[in-house]
Amino acid sequence: MLDTPKPSHSVSTAPIRAMRSEGERVAVDLAVGRTGKLSTRWLRLACECEQCGDTASGKRWLTPADVAAGVRASSIDVAAGEVRVVWGDGHVSCYGSDFLAGHAGAGSGPARFQPQLWSSDLSAKLGRFAFDAVVADDEALFHSLRALRDHGIAMLTGVPAETEATVRVAARYGPIRETSYGKVFDLISRPDARVAGETARAQIPHTDEPFRYAPPGFIFFHAIHTGAGSGGTSLMVDGFHVAELMRNRTPDLFDVLTRHGVTFHREHAGEVYFSAEAHVISLDATGAVTGIRYNDRCLAPQTASEDEIDGVIEALAELTRLICHPQNQFQHQLQPGEVLVFDNQRVMHGRSAFDPTLAVRHLRSCNIDRDGVHSAFRTLARRFAPQEAEAVLYQGAIF
Ligand SMILES: [Fe+2]
Repeated sequence: MLDTPKPSHSVSTAPIRAMRSEGERVAVDLAVGRTGKLSTRWLRLACECEQCGDTASGKRWLTPADVAAGVRASSIDVAAGEVRVVWGDGHVSCYGSDFLAGHAGAGSGPARFQPQLWSSDLSAKLGRFAFDAVVADDEALFHSLRALRDHGIAMLTGVPAETEATVRVAARYGPIRETSYGKVFDLISRPDARVAGETARAQIPHTDEPFRYAPPGFIFFHAIHTGAGSGGTSLMVDGFHVAELMRNRTPDLFDVLTRHGVTFHREHAGEVYFSAEAHVISLDATGAVTGIRYNDRCLAPQTASEDEIDGVIEALAELTRLICHPQNQFQHQLQPGEVLVFDNQRVMHGRSAFDPTLAVRHLRSCNIDRDGVHSAFRTLARRFAPQEAEAVLYQGAIF
């Protein structure tokens, strides 16, 4: 037992008027005139005194097994901004009133973030951010991170052509992920193409590398040279938008893509052989779309029962038709110095064909893990928009 434990979670004004023990529950009278209930067991487990430890840092010593179902509060004192509870065994816990009021009032903890869906109309909403500002100013960086949270895509402008500049701006968003294709890679059309990105052919919008258990998170496309007028237009699709179209128009096919495992693969003989079976559309615990994984060029011959296989193929065909529909595509001719940043587990990217004899098309690319980008967002939200830091964000293509 500690005499004066530090309060668990934040302390501010006085949103709680009174609290009283009702056995398994603690009744809470909120200052706004409403009432709420907390689980007594939850309340004991929420203690973050020095003895119980801190859940954020992981220097935590109290486990769920240490809190018996029959745990009861002996006394509860509500003071300005702080609630002090003495437990049956003499342990003392202090909590911030805001923290308890949030849990007692809302009943379900932090809100889930609702992404803003888009189609061919993205141009008017697309966040554009200057390289100089993003590399030097945390608030400008925060605004671009917020755009990535909202739309899954943002544009950086005025980025110098040097490799160092690509890395410098990308690293502001999180550690760059090194893959079997390297850390920073150049997509240039060439006759001995190893991957489709090095050809001049059109590409249906897709997410990259769905054959990995954890596909790339955010992708940076830095335009070094572009062949204006000779094709090579970027085609961007909000995968969440087309998933919702499917949910509304063809719910049976939507269900197939959320429940049936689809296999994607990639093999370069003797070097790599990736294979992943996963859902094309990932849902969170509430049924909201949380991630997309789809690349028509990486689909393996699928395994399914004779009864199911045609349904799987039709669901993939319907998704492909929606992705290819111009109404669902934001089309943009990248200019040198522009960087498109997008969430590879939400936003699909493709391009129209181009004529490599008219102009060299050179994009430089690198990847950053999604949780690193969302961590950067939350960290800066603590400074620039504290009320946005706690929302549950969509967590990607999670099988
Ligand atoms: Fe790609």
